[in-house]
Amino acid sequence: MVLTAVLASLLLVSFADAAIQNAMLRGRPSLPKIPIPERTLTSPNGAALPPITTVYYFDQLIDHNNPSLGTFQQRYWMDWDFYEAGGPIVLMTPGEADADGYQGYLTNDTITGMIAQQQHGAAVLIEHRFFGYSNPYENLTSQSLELLTIQQAIDDLVYFVETADLPMPGGDNVKPDTTPWILVGGSYSGALTSWTMVNKPDVFYAGYASSGVVEVITDYYGYFTPIRAYMPQNCSSDVQAVIAYLDQIYAVNNTAAIQSLKDAFGLGDLLHIDDFASALQYNLFDWQSLQPFTGPGSMFFEFCDALEVKNGVSAPATGWGLETAIYAWGSFWNTTYYAYVCGDLDAETCLGTYDTTQSYWSDISINNAGRSWFWMVCNQVGYYQVGPPEGQPAIVSRILQPNYEERQCANMFPQKFYSPPAPSASEVDFMYEGWNVKVNKLFFANGLRDPWREATVSADGLYKLNTTTQPIYEGGGFHCSDLIAESGIVDETIRTVQMAGLEYMRTWLAEY
Ligand SMILES: *[C@@H]1O[C@H](CO)[C@@H](O)[C@H](O)[C@H]1NC(C)=O
Ligand SMILES: *[C@@H]1O[C@H](CO)[C@@H](O)[C@H](O)[C@H]1NC(C)=O
Ligand SMILES: *[C@@H]1O[C@H](CO)[C@@H](O)[C@H](O)[C@H]1NC(C)=O
Ligand SMILES: *[C@@H]1O[C@H](CO)[C@@H](O)[C@H](O)[C@H]1NC(C)=O
Ligand SMILES: *[C@@H]1O[C@H](CO)[C@@H](O)[C@H](O)[C@H]1NC(C)=O
Ligand SMILES: *[C@@H]1O[C@H](CO)[C@@H](O)[C@H](O)[C@H]1NC(C)=O
Repeated sequence: MVLTAVLASLLLVSFADAAIQNAMLRGRPSLPKIPIPERTLTSPNGAALPPITTVYYFDQLIDHNNPSLGTFQQRYWMDWDFYEAGGPIVLMTPGEADADGYQGYLTNDTITGMIAQQQHGAAVLIEHRFFGYSNPYENLTSQSLELLTIQQAIDDLVYFVETADLPMPGGDNVKPDTTPWILVGGSYSGALTSWTMVNKPDVFYAGYASSGVVEVITDYYGYFTPIRAYMPQNCSSDVQAVIAYLDQIYAVNNTAAIQSLKDAFGLGDLLHIDDFASALQYNLFDWQSLQPFTGPGSMFFEFCDALEVKNGVSAPATGWGLETAIYAWGSFWNTTYYAYVCGDLDAETCLGTYDTTQSYWSDISINNAGRSWFWMVCNQVGYYQVGPPEGQPAIVSRILQPNYEERQCANMFPQKFYSPPAPSASEVDFMYEGWNVKVNKLFFANGLRDPWREATVSADGLYKLNTTTQPIYEGGGFHCSDLIAESGIVDETIRTVQMAGLEYMRTWLAEY
């Protein structure tokens, strides 16, 4: 399981980076990274190919509504080792991240490359505007970010398909009038796959959307529903007990009890109760890093072990109860988790969100995925991961409501927002059809244990129609698990999803 080890270390690196950022960026619906294989590539006729880390640049329009503004350089990567003339082009964007490091998605370690291999196609990985080094302007001011919208991102994909001369032999002759293009995405980019096919029919011949969060939801408490359901039940019970206690002492303004609870976590210096509630949520966000091939040492399971295993004995499904849970969860923060999240920073600097003088809010340098994504969150997509309504079991505090994050939108983009804004979610759902999507030849793949599932077409209670033109498959996976070949090797239900996706591609392309 070399992959597992490498993946675990990649995740640790990304956590260390995130340490100084705050909670809203932790649960970003991002694609899992996979290692970039080092094998040398050859085309089917034996010619040596450039390494998949070779960067290519496309002259992309700065503003699709105003082409006279000119172009910027959009980065992309390619692998044509399976390509034969007439084959499809499989295009994917990792979405809201620096795309450098995602080149593994060009290979048959992922569904993108598996489709390319099966269909003798070429794979292209393209960076999303305002992420990594694909920036219309060289800063991330509110003014520049006005050009970061879902529609501009869709138009980028379309303009690329219709205009790009790809660096491979014959690559200037693969426009969609002669060549089938397949759009693949996962998470936000999975949603973008669906939104693009809705908004610009007839550009992409077919699509594959993994964990596609097609329905934009502002008050996205559903994020925690699959976590609560599939985490160890004793751990879930004890987390619920602590959260219920927090919400109760908050409701009656028992400041002394609140202070001792914060002290138990070593977070006594944290000034604001909602920042404390948000810190507790971090342990749940760790769920999103899980994959079927993740080993038992992952942070989420360390957390539950710390809560539930005492002297080698683990608690029954009802947990150990409130007092023990506070003590065990608190000690876990104090001994292990605080350093993991905050390093040497003090609690308020690391976890506080009220000090608007922190450089974090005003840093406008490029390649800051947190800032660019937060722009999209504040303006269009929300997906605020908050406490559930009264009456539903809660593993995160109901103190956390969309206004917790909306306030931070105004901190980060004061030029844009004079007061905490609500995202234009209903407009997005109307424009790009959200759960109502109905397009031809789009394959949806989802995972039962994915915290983003409630925003996908496999949301509980949705009963979205599952047809041969728009099939929906669900395996036992986590977030975007089916994109990764390894998931199908260790989990048969995910293998079934992947095989179905490949089979649909075969059938659909045969009709081209
Ligand atoms: C990827 O392709 C190689 C041959 O190029 C093959 O040996 C390997 O089994 C393929 N992997 C998957 C997951 O299909
Ligand atoms: C940001 O970039 C724009 C476009 O290049 C430029 O006009 C503006 O002055 C820059 N702003 C800052 C604060 O650097
Ligand atoms: C209790 O928690 C431990 C540690 O996370 C886990 O291994 C075990 O399966 C859980 N048992 C129950 C009944 O929830
Ligand atoms: C909560 O209690 C503190 C101290 O006991 C007091 O200063 C504060 O005004 C109270 N807040 C509310 C909302 O009642
Ligand atoms: C947290 O750890 C520090 C340093 O190890 C220790 O002084 C403190 O008492 C601990 N607090 C709690 C609540 O365990
Ligand atoms: C959708 O239909 C196919 C074909 O009948 C079936 O194999 C698949 O499991 C269905 N998907 C879901 C989520 O039920």
